[in-house]
Amino acid sequence: MHVVGNKLNIKSTVVKNICCIGAGYVGGPTMAVIAKHCPEIQVNVVDLNKNRINSWNDINLNNLPIFEPGLDLIIKEVRGKNLHFSTDVKDSVIQADLIFIAVNTPTKSKGIGAGQASDLRWIEGCVREISEYAQGHTIVVEKSTLPVRTAEVIEKILNTKSKNDDKTFSILSNPEFLSEGTAIDDLENPNRVLIGGEDELAIKTLYDIYAKWVNKEKIICTNIWSSELSKLTANAFLAQRISSINAISALCEKTGADINEVTNAVGKDERIGEKFLKSGPGFGGSCFKKDILNLVYLCNYFNLPEVADYWMNIINLNHWQQKRISKLIIEKLFGTVTGKKIAILGFSFKANTNDTRESPAIQICKDLLDEGAKLAIHDPRVSQKNIEFELGIKSKNIDESDSRIKGDSLTQEIYFYWCENIKDSVNGADAVVILTEWNEYKNLKPNLFNTNMRKPAWIFDCRDVLNNFQVDKNTINYWRVGKG
Ligand code: UDX
Ligand code: UDX
Repeated sequence: MHVVGNKLNIKSTVVKNICCIGAGYVGGPTMAVIAKHCPEIQVNVVDLNKNRINSWNDINLNNLPIFEPGLDLIIKEVRGKNLHFSTDVKDSVIQADLIFIAVNTPTKSKGIGAGQASDLRWIEGCVREISEYAQGHTIVVEKSTLPVRTAEVIEKILNTKSKNDDKTFSILSNPEFLSEGTAIDDLENPNRVLIGGEDELAIKTLYDIYAKWVNKEKIICTNIWSSELSKLTANAFLAQRISSINAISALCEKTGADINEVTNAVGKDERIGEKFLKSGPGFGGSCFKKDILNLVYLCNYFNLPEVADYWMNIINLNHWQQKRISKLIIEKLFGTVTGKKIAILGFSFKANTNDTRESPAIQICKDLLDEGAKLAIHDPRVSQKNIEFELGIKSKNIDESDSRIKGDSLTQEIYFYWCENIKDSVNGADAVVILTEWNEYKNLKPNLFNTNMRKPAWIFDCRDVLNNFQVDKNTINYWRVGKG
């Protein structure tokens, strides 16, 4: 453990007011859990996006901008008491003893490092605002995943400005390891909390906040660079497991092995472990790809091209897995999907979230649309608008006549059908493609497919959710990832 960890018997500063900049998938749930466990602290979550803040303040808890199991109950308990959502960055920063930065850090789209490095313009913008408005001593905590040594940049901006007045700052790194869909449980019972920094008093102050509900043994203190690199490394390792198992899934399909039997046998080795070995259409989410690209950029920057290539291949394999699935669907449907209705079940990047960032469904749907397929998309939580945004095309609501689409409905216009229920999506379809492991899809009855699809039909179970599934083998073909 870093030396600071041994000195945690020092007295911490009393925190009365916390500000979090960024009310997204990380900032919102994390602050809700902190507010729940620290009723004596006022927590202000601020965001530039007014609509998002309005949704956080919506009386109807179904309208929260983020769907996370258990989040609504906590919001109900603490919102308006010690948890507040607003767009007032200035006032919230003025009041804060401790500020979390939880804004998004997308991959740069142009300039040096385009396609790999993180775009830090929002981080820099926030830091400049903090340096302008903060008062007295403020602890600034990086919550966003950042390239290693970003804390140095933050420190430079804050300390240059504050030389001329009586403001002082301590910078900490406190990466978030929550996983969407289980965010509340991950925050309530984390495997570990990581705090990186040099200022012992600041570390102890943040440590004491987490220690209100997290077992002290699980709070790890490191130097700031180790903390930043640990987050990238953890995500890279997790993504690597998925690419590894997806690579083997393709081999299983060729050889007659069954991926479930292989993962069961392999995962029983305690050194390997059973978690994160589920093959599927490839990993999505806002973190894995971005963090690996960051790692690749860092390795190239420090002239380690072999290491950069090693990690880059994890992403390449993930892309290949998505492409091979769309190619396979087209091949199985007699080499053409033009004008055919294909039901897409699931659009979020995993179950129990409405998040679609980097979802494998995006690439697979785009490939099928390019080939002229008519997609009928269903997802229990993702909005019609969000799917339109991700695919860059408009949708039509499916109605009775549409749901009887036949193979001859050729048209030049590109759109997809938005389906509020599963039956509308499957009705008259030549193929069903399951892309997210939602519970709703696990118990679908064979009859839904046997009676409603156009024959011969295909079911592509890319998440292997339809366990022991019996369909009429004479008219319906069933493919599942890692088995063929
Ligand atoms: C998180 C992490 O913070 C990021 O590092 C990680 O790699 C991806 O996940 P997340 O909470 O998922 O980000 O992002 P998002 O849901 O996009 O929320 C970020 C919020 O910050 C947005 O609501 C955005 O409006 C807000 N924002 C952004 C600001 O308030 N100010 C800014 O200057 C920039
Ligand atoms: C991830 C990390 O788990 C979390 O610690 C970090 O803070 C943010 O990034 P998240 O992206 O929310 O969390 O979800 P995760 O459960 O890791 O899933 C990522 C992707 O991998 C999803 O598309 C999921 O479907 C896929 N996945 C996961 C698999 O294909 N197989 C698996 O066995 C596990």
